[in-house]
Amino acid sequence: STIYVLNGPNLNALGKREPGIYGALTLADIEAMCVAEGARLGLEIVFRQSNHEGDLVDWFHEAGEKAAGIAVNAGAYTHTSIALHDAAKAIGIPVVELHLSNVHAREEFRHTSLLAPAAKGVICGFGADSYILALNALKTLTHPTR
Ligand code: DQA
Repeated sequence: STIYVLNGPNLNALGKREPGIYGALTLADIEAMCVAEGARLGLEIVFRQSNHEGDLVDWFHEAGEKAAGIAVNAGAYTHTSIALHDAAKAIGIPVVELHLSNVHAREEFRHTSLLAPAAKGVICGFGADSYILALNALKTLTHPTR
């Protein structure tokens, strides 16, 4: 089955953006990790990034038609976007919210996620491994073994 891995604003700058917080890997490096993990898990990965909220809304709907689940790092839209919350609710596939950093250990304004109540669950704080953990969660959700 197909999993959409969606990335929001500023994640195109990974590698040079606050590497002390977000790590040295680029988004292309993380895409390669996700494709490799997808192959291991038997999941086809569609990997995208946009700085525009509406693109992410459109991709949620597209995934709802074409995919078995979504792993999303919505960046700062996590904390602001009712539209992404509504999009997650509007589709019939599981959404796993993920973050590179531990948002709960950072500024107060990162402690609230408007997306999380519409998500199946949230993974944060494991750097690029948050993506790998999210894919494994989606594998289990879409191919339950118990
Ligand atoms: C982030 C955390 C967000 O608070 C921030 O706005 C980002 C990245 C993360 O992956 O740690 O852009 O989603």
